[in-house]
Amino acid sequence: MDLEKIHKEIEEWHSGDKDKLEEFRLKFISRKGVFGDLFSNIKNIPNEAKKEYGQKINVLKNAAQEKFQFLIEKVSDGKSDAGEYKDTDFTLPGSGTDIGNRHPLKIAQKDIVEIFQKIGFDLSEGPEIETDWYNFTALNFPENHPAREMQDTFFVEKDPDMVLRTHTSSVQIRVMESTKPPIRTLSPGRVYRNEAISARSHCVFYQAEGLYIDKNVSFKDLKQTMLYFAKEMFGKNTKIRLRPSYFPFTEPSAEMDVYWGLETEVDKKITKGTGWLEILGCGMVDPNVLENCNIDPKEYSGFAFGMGIERIALLKYQIPDIRLFTENDTRFLKQFKSLI
Ligand code: PHE
Repeated sequence: MDLEKIHKEIEEWHSGDKDKLEEFRLKFISRKGVFGDLFSNIKNIPNEAKKEYGQKINVLKNAAQEKFQFLIEKVSDGKSDAGEYKDTDFTLPGSGTDIGNRHPLKIAQKDIVEIFQKIGFDLSEGPEIETDWYNFTALNFPENHPAREMQDTFFVEKDPDMVLRTHTSSVQIRVMESTKPPIRTLSPGRVYRNEAISARSHCVFYQAEGLYIDKNVSFKDLKQTMLYFAKEMFGKNTKIRLRPSYFPFTEPSAEMDVYWGLETEVDKKITKGTGWLEILGCGMVDPNVLENCNIDPKEYSGFAFGMGIERIALLKYQIPDIRLFTENDTRFLKQFKSLI
């Protein structure tokens, strides 16, 4: 058998489809192929030439193995030796790339921000770990006053003066301390309350706080602004109602409900069978709070409001359980792709 000829054949073998690869395997790799014959031929070689012959066929065998690896790779990436794709159908549609999407809470937050930006509100933020002053005292929660218990608080163990903020109202104080009125600002952010986790409440959630301070701001302005927001957010036929309520930092205070109807099971569940759902707290900024921030209540007045972003998203997207927001189940999250 001519070793030179075999070597040449291995070298010049062109890759092609799987059949061509199999043909190579049977001929040069399999024990029944060419090498089987070459090895069994050793016994016919004169003793003095045996060593050289053996070395030659070993070199050849390695070359065949290397070439085989090369051919396997070529077949699997569909390329010929010349680098052209042989088995690829370029007319097939592409498989697409999963680009991900915004989280539904962030979509709701973005909508809220945009609605208020349209009427001149800017954005502000504050820290999630707050001092007692910003979270309570400056907001007119007297020390040891039972109003502090309205919000179950996480305290920082090492420093009793520090809390995880229970609401974004703390940002009102930070803005008023550092800005001269007129002020129109929206402060979205994460807040914490020491509450049991259920379908309707969580210990970590998002709020968006609004604050408007200027000369001659009245309750009428608050009401119209809230109505504008509800219509922009939920559609122009949305109805709202304001119920008297209590917050230490606003006077008078109200809670706002939107009417959602009682058509579906989800409606019934989240509105507790009334059709109305509370979405925010609001009121006229208490003069004590203005004074705490060195704003003269005789000159300025204003309103504030705070809403739970989860609540808004539950309502808008008909989601039955607040826990879905934090479970990171992509089957849930992917449903919001079109809302980017
Ligand atoms: N901070 C209040 C809460 O978390 C909401 C609120 C904000 C009420 C601003 C009135 C004014 O419940």
